[in-house]
Amino acid sequence: MSISSQKNRITAPKIKARKGGEPIVSLTAYSAPMAGFLDPYTDVFIVGDSLGMVLYGLDSTLNVSLEMMIAHGAAVVRGSEIACVTVDMPFGSYQESREQAFRNAARLMQETGCGAVKLEGGVEMAETVSFLTDRGIPVMGHVGLMPQSVNRLGGYQVRGRKREEASAILADARAITEAGAFSLVIEGVVASVASDVTNAVAAPTIGIGASAECDGQVLVTEDMTGMFNDFTPAFVKRYAELGVEIQKAAAAYSADVKARRFPGPEQVFGDNNNRKKKLS
Ligand code: KIV
Repeated sequence: MSISSQKNRITAPKIKARKGGEPIVSLTAYSAPMAGFLDPYTDVFIVGDSLGMVLYGLDSTLNVSLEMMIAHGAAVVRGSEIACVTVDMPFGSYQESREQAFRNAARLMQETGCGAVKLEGGVEMAETVSFLTDRGIPVMGHVGLMPQSVNRLGGYQVRGRKREEASAILADARAITEAGAFSLVIEGVVASVASDVTNAVAAPTIGIGASAECDGQVLVTEDMTGMFNDFTPAFVKRYAELGVEIQKAAAAYSADVKARRFPGPEQVFGDNNNRKKKLS
């Protein structure tokens, strides 16, 4: 990563300054080519640990490693020039102590070139968030439905319907943003909680399954483009059916190979000089 490739990047402070302003557009990205396609339309790339389920076919995000996040985070930084790249800290890489969190967040920043890290948690993680931000690491928080806590929460259900749960989410959001988080993902909560949190905190909120009350929105790109069919949450809007298009392409390729229509003359290196294909 060269310094010049970083000069037009949207930074964490710029995202923070968008509180209450133009809505923040965020998408997940896990690879360089996808980051390249999305970059002109995206303020924040979240290299989410959802990649464990979406790309690797895992049952949850719990088995995602720091090495996986580093490899995908670096690819997204290489593939983009503008969006603020924020890489998820995977389960087990930050909960033990603030020192462990700093060590692993520093690796993510150094080895990927990303602009920020994201971690899940509320009141219990506030001290860690302040430790990281005081030491130069921009942190995005993540409250509400926290997939890394699926075993404690008992599933992926919407949060905040009960009064005590709603108050706990609000307290989590306050603690994390007061500790210095530059923005906050709110996942899978009822609209009233998203609205209360957004009104209560100074950092912009980025909702996923959290209504239009937030300062911005994020979707998993593979959900948004119809490339992940294992499970589509009710809050997802599909803007394309790329999975169907890929299947159509594969079916056409298969038919061509079987009928010996592919490769055709255009795809063949001939002996004759003027028909010779260049490799580049
Ligand atoms: O892991 C992920 O992709 C995320 C986003 C959906 C916010 O946390």
